[in-house]
Amino acid sequence: MNEGGRNGVGPNLYDVVGKPHGHLENFNYSAALKAHQGPWNYDELDRWLANPQGYAPGTRMGFVGLKDPKDRANVIAYLRSLSANPVPLP
Ligand code: HEM
Repeated sequence: MNEGGRNGVGPNLYDVVGKPHGHLENFNYSAALKAHQGPWNYDELDRWLANPQGYAPGTRMGFVGLKDPKDRANVIAYLRSLSANPVPLP
């Protein structure tokens, strides 16, 4: 989560909001994730976190997802905060 921090099982998520899918050069993303074009906007993040396997079938993100929209909103608000210039809220 920290700026310039290392990747773990998943990619470092600092400043990911508004960045392209598969935003890090030094992380080996799945073809499933890279098949998605465009930036991680709030709507895309919401759909991804609701059901990662549904959003990108074959993704390597081993996470069942967050079923409660409020949980997703809270997590996405936290991701937004991990930036020097947070993307404006919708
Ligand atoms: C609420 C919890 C989580 C959030 C908010 C989250 C968020 C994200 C986001 C936004 C990406 C895309 C990053 C990019 O395009 O650069 C991603 C990818 C990924 N995450 Fe997660 N993640 C979560 C849980 C997990 C867990 C539990 C794991 C592993 C056990 C994991 C492993 C991965 C992996 C491997 C990828 C790359 C997926 C691929 O290339 O198909 N994540 N995550």
